[in-house]
Amino acid sequence: MHNEGFVSLVGAGPGDVELLTVKALRLIQQAEVIVYDRLISGDILKLIPAGVSRIAVGKSPGAHCLPQNDINEIMINLATAGRRVVRLKGGDPYLFGRGSEEALALKKHHIKFEVVPGITAAFGCSAYSGIPLTHRGLSRSVKFITGHFSNDEALEYDWEKLADQDCTLVFYMAMANLLTICSQLINAGLDAGTPAAAVENGTTQSQRRIISTLGLLFAEVSAQRIQAPAMIIIGNVVSLATDIDWFQQSLEMTVYDESLAASR
Ligand SMILES: C[S@@+](CC[C@H](N)C(=O)[O-])C[C@H]1O[C@@H](n2cnc3c(N)ncnc32)[C@H](O)[C@@H]1O
Repeated sequence: MHNEGFVSLVGAGPGDVELLTVKALRLIQQAEVIVYDRLISGDILKLIPAGVSRIAVGKSPGAHCLPQNDINEIMINLATAGRRVVRLKGGDPYLFGRGSEEALALKKHHIKFEVVPGITAAFGCSAYSGIPLTHRGLSRSVKFITGHFSNDEALEYDWEKLADQDCTLVFYMAMANLLTICSQLINAGLDAGTPAAAVENGTTQSQRRIISTLGLLFAEVSAQRIQAPAMIIIGNVVSLATDIDWFQQSLEMTVYDESLAASR
């Protein structure tokens, strides 16, 4: 009997392996082929059983990657050949993850698929950096915004609409346009003193966090050489970062302990 292929579009979360869902873990363990992105952490790749084929299709910022059509074609060919494919994507497949483009391509080729949500980087960075996305009296809404348009097109938004002191702004893929984002928001009326943060490698042991203001964030991010993957969070909620941090502090304690150990 001919086995019918199947594709699971699976969100792998933001980095910490323990933020994988139980379903994602089961699918990784049962897959025949795993097609994965660059942001999938090494710890998650270690969960792939020996003997399971792995295909890396990810890119680093600004560097060459497989075009989306080629990635779609790989999945379609594997599924048509009857393979059980797990397409492992960073964070959540449907939030700036092109998961829906892949789902449309599979649908067009009559390939059965499922979508498994993952913890998006905004949720991971929020929890692991002490910055809630909403808080009574500080923020009534949240916007998830891309900080990068395809083909490096100029970032064009209705900045006045975005410059809302009661809303938390979360920018994905914002490092190359950070100066533009901060300046445009200030020009549109958002106070330069609005608390603002950058979280690099959120939820991982190499997480770094800058807590600043809208007016100073770009200078501090540049000085600390914060790089992608990083999340930018702007809004009054960032003012809680020191009070309710539980993770960054533990990382810094680890560094401190190691230095103590080294000096013994
Ligand atoms: C192409 S988007 C993918 C988003 C993903 N689908 C999600 O739901 O998180 C990649 C961007 O997500 C953000 N990102 C992903 N993982 C991150 C992490 N561990 N820490 C901070 N930002 C992260 C960065 O802004 C990065 O440029």
